[in-house]
Formats: sequence, C-alpha cells, structure tokens
Amino acid sequence: MFEHIETYPGDPILSLNEDFAKDPRRNKVNLSIGIYFDDAGRLPVMRAVREAEASLLEQPAAKPYLPMSGLAAYRDAVQSLVFGDHSVARAEGRIATVQTLGGSGALKVGADFIKRYFPGSEVWVSDPTWDNHRFIFERAGFTVGTYPYYDEATGGLKFDAMLSAIRDLPAKSVVLLHACCHNPTGVDLNDAQWMELIDLIKRRDLLPFVDMAYQGFGAGLDADAFAIRELVRQNVPAFVANSFSKNFSLYGERCGALSVICESAEAAARVLGQMTSAVRANYSNPPTHGAKIVTRVLTTPALRQSWEEELASMCTRIARMRGEIHARLRGNVPDAMLARYLEQRGMFTFTGLSAGQVDVLRERHGIYLIRSGRMCIAALNDRNVGVTAGAIGEVLAMETV
Ligand code: LMR
Repeated sequence: MFEHIETYPGDPILSLNEDFAKDPRRNKVNLSIGIYFDDAGRLPVMRAVREAEASLLEQPAAKPYLPMSGLAAYRDAVQSLVFGDHSVARAEGRIATVQTLGGSGALKVGADFIKRYFPGSEVWVSDPTWDNHRFIFERAGFTVGTYPYYDEATGGLKFDAMLSAIRDLPAKSVVLLHACCHNPTGVDLNDAQWMELIDLIKRRDLLPFVDMAYQGFGAGLDADAFAIRELVRQNVPAFVANSFSKNFSLYGERCGALSVICESAEAAARVLGQMTSAVRANYSNPPTHGAKIVTRVLTTPALRQSWEEELASMCTRIARMRGEIHARLRGNVPDAMLARYLEQRGMFTFTGLSAGQVDVLRERHGIYLIRSGRMCIAALNDRNVGVTAGAIGEVLAMETV
C-alpha cells in the first residue's frame, strides 16, 4: 500500500532544529531557527504574557469551539495592531480578518482562498524567501516563481531588478512580500521604495500578499507595518498574514491572523465568509488559549505597555549582539561580508557562508545555521558570540570548503 511513498528529506529549518536537540555536545549553539532567546539562552515567557495567562487561569472557563473565524475580540485586537487604531478602512468595515494557526496557517488559508477565486494566478516570491512560502503555495496548487531581491555582492537589495521583474507580471499575479525583517536576508525596502512598489502594484493590478511575522523587531510596531498601512490608505486590495509567535514569544500557541483589505464593507463580508469556509475545510476552527492571552495583553493598557517595553528591550539586545559579532569578526571576515551584520534588520543575517561552510560549522563546532547561510542573531548571547565568531573565522580561513 505505501511502497510508493518516498522518504521525507526533512524541512531545512524545523528538521535542523530537531537535529540540534538530538546533538549531545554540551557547547552546541543553535543559530538556526527563528526564535528569540534571552541572554541566558532561554526562551523567554514575556512578563505581560505571564500576567495575562495567570489572570485567565484564575477564572477557569469552559472551552467550547470558537467560531470558525476565531475569537471576535482577538480579531479586533489584531486589526488595531496591524492596521492602526485609527484606520479608516477598519472603521468602514473594509478589512476582513480571521484568526489562524500562526502565520503559516494564515498563508495556507489565504492560498486556498486565492486558488479558488483566482485560479489562473501565479505566485511570485522574493529570491530568496522563507522556504515554507514556496512549499505552502505549491501545495495549494500554484506555480511559484521568484523575483530578484537579495544582492549577495552588497548584502543589500536589488531594488531596480525587483521592480522591473514585477512590472512584467500579468495582472492578478500574487506578489508575496515581507512587511519587515525579511526572512532570510534581513534586508527590507525603505519607505520610499515601498511607495514606488505599491504604485507599481496598483498600476499593474497585482495582488500583494504581505507576510508580517516580525512586527516590532524592525523599526517599531507602527513603522514595521508601513507597507500595510500604505496599501490600505491607497485602497489597494491585499492579503496580510501576521503572527504573534515571535513578538509575544508564543511560538507553540500558534497565534496568527489573515486579513484581507477589500474595496467595500460588502465585499469584506463576502471575503470573510469564504475565508471562514477555507478555515472549516482545513481545521474547522482555531484554538482558544493563546488567542485569549494575546487579546488580554493588547487590550489591557498596563499589560500592553509592559509588552511593548519588553519587546523593545529584546530588539535592543539583538542590536547589541549585532555589534558584538561584528566587532569579533572584524579582521577575520572580508569587509564585503562584514557590514551586513550591522545593516540587516530583525532576527536574521544572511552571512554569505556557503552550505559547505555551514556544514563544517555544524559538524566541527556544533554551531547550527540554516544551510542557506542564514544566522539567527536573536540566539546569540555573551557566552556564545565569541565561539561563534572564532569558528566562522576558522571556517573562512579553510581553503577547501
Ligand atoms: C524560521 O524561519 O526559522 C521560523 O519562522 C520558524 C519556521 O517555522 O520556519
């Protein structure tokens, strides 16, 4: 019966993370998966999350099914965080939002919806992008192509090439974009570039799908949503996936949402209905616990303030680690590969190390990066940054790798 089923080669990120857990070496360093660890190398439980969870547990509640679209208060809180408290489109009811199983769930529900209503569209992702983007859209039945994005020579953005490729796409093509803290490169568009791109998207009648998995890890909660707010302001129909895995350190609770910016409240109601039907066909309805925590934090002023402060301190720590590794690599890494540690934003830096060099780092030194060369800066700390920099220097000095 199952002879034709081939062996799963594993996922480039999640399987590597599982390999790390099995590695018996005591001095191993996990810079692979996109998870923020504190300076002691621990996964933090944020203060506001701890308080919200404790207060929820004080009044144990029954656990009925949530509506297919999710917890109403959560969906409202998501809209306010992603689109802004004073969003006109939100007040007009032009944004349809469903609660999803993390950002991946949002991408999958969105992919299913788009496949049904725009069956002729193809999906275009940045070169490179998060591996699961391609995987989710291909599994939903799309042909997925790439547009130029990252410039290895400079560690920056190929903006002109990106625009010119997008300019040639047929109308209704789906263009997948990262709102901030691009994964895996850490290279973002600046505000002026976003304006130019949005103008092009409008003129070419393209369908943007913006993935915002790192709100708050770039320039701040509002600034990171610049592209999304601008799409709304300019009445551009768009899909937006967001996640609370990273900015709430709630990875395992799978808290995310999919929002669609529509031209009218009436269209938003129909879109919401069909997104709900996509949820039903995938997993019926989302889970309760994490959504309640997020809602409690976002809607309770003291908890909200505590959360924002702690998130800001996480960003400060990441910035400090960028400085630390940069200082330790200076002299051991060619100048062209060094500036990116300071310039790229968010959790990741695209080191420029080859897959072979990454393999040597893992096998000889127990230091895990993704084979694309992506390093999770948010997992560096004062104890592992020196070893990591030393090992990178050694690997780069080897001639045969
Ligand atoms: C990552 O990119 O490492 C994270 O988003 C985790 C994942 O699911 O891949």
